[in-house]
Amino acid sequence: EELTVIRKFEHIEHCLKKEVEAHVSAQFENIHFVHMSLPEIDKEEIDLSVEFLGRKFDYPIMIAGMTGGTKGSQLAGKINKTLAKAAQELNIPMGVGSQRAMIRKPETWESYYVRDVAPDVFLVGNLGAPQFSETMPNRYGIEEAIKAVETIQADALAFHMNPLQESVQPEGDTQYRGVLNALAELKSEFPYPIIAKETGAGVSKEVAVKLESIGIDAVDVGGLGGTSWSGVEYYRAKDERSKNLALKFWDWGIPTALSVAEVRYATDLPIISTGGIRDGIQIAKALALGANLAGVALPLLKPAAKGDVEGVIKVLERYINELRNAMFLVGAKNVVELRKVPLVVTGFAREWLEQRIELWEFLRERR
Ligand code: FNR
Repeated sequence: EELTVIRKFEHIEHCLKKEVEAHVSAQFENIHFVHMSLPEIDKEEIDLSVEFLGRKFDYPIMIAGMTGGTKGSQLAGKINKTLAKAAQELNIPMGVGSQRAMIRKPETWESYYVRDVAPDVFLVGNLGAPQFSETMPNRYGIEEAIKAVETIQADALAFHMNPLQESVQPEGDTQYRGVLNALAELKSEFPYPIIAKETGAGVSKEVAVKLESIGIDAVDVGGLGGTSWSGVEYYRAKDERSKNLALKFWDWGIPTALSVAEVRYATDLPIISTGGIRDGIQIAKALALGANLAGVALPLLKPAAKGDVEGVIKVLERYINELRNAMFLVGAKNVVELRKVPLVVTGFAREWLEQRIELWEFLRERR
């Protein structure tokens, strides 16, 4: 399992130093607000707080899980603690990266532990779907899931679904048989909320309906348009064949905005809109489409790796400022009102959504 630890370190290195984002967009540019000349609210009275899984947050933003358990360097621990201090200061939720390394090497637990600096943060643990597959030797079950949450005093568990990344990685875990069943079983006895989370290829309405039917508490759509895990694996690939495969699938997936619309159309699940969120207007659009939170990973990695708490807060405050401005210009004084403002869908987004959902009905009756 030394390999898991080294691999995680390489992922961070590539995300810090290389271009790892999708070459296609998350499709927010094809979702338009309609400007309102008479907002009939004061910008200062806008309330950005949201409720999610029984907790109240000051802003509808989540710091998406990235790391933990990397080799030597303490880099992972520094990143998580820096993100956690920012999350504590802003009262927003945050996730840690995959705790697989911690399950195998319990001594790495401290690199995920942030309670000392973030006593009040809504913290989300993280384990991967393939580890629960029926074809996985030494498959995980409730014991590992409880260990992941309780070792770091988390409030919920993210169960990451990453078949794209695993499929283009030579040592990837491509066992996915029986994962939905395992998740259903886990959900029936697990005392914490479970968030099913994609990692950059999006969640379709069909998958979301299945997740809702087994009682999953929330979905993070982790859509296409931001960090590409096939892209990251491209840099790690050692031979021509692996490089080619990773390159071909660099832009595979469901763009984030469209994934949010699909999941909102087909389910009542709380939604986190992650994947390519790079400004506050996109956050406003994600919320207007029905997301409850917008998740951000890559833009926070650089300041976090330097231990720069103020740098992390600065990025998030910029998003918050832009979000508030967008809400003012559509006359929404809180997130609930934002869900009801008119939206226009154009181009590729319209073509996609017309074939996947009753688009006009969705736009008329959004919650
Ligand atoms: C991630 N992400 C991730 N997700 C997960 O569930 N478990 C993990 O261990 C990791 N690790 C990880 C490391 C790094 C360096 C990055 C940048 C990301 C995925 C992350 O949570 C998110 O879904 C995607 O990165 C998309 O968001 P951005 O980066 O486009 O904002």
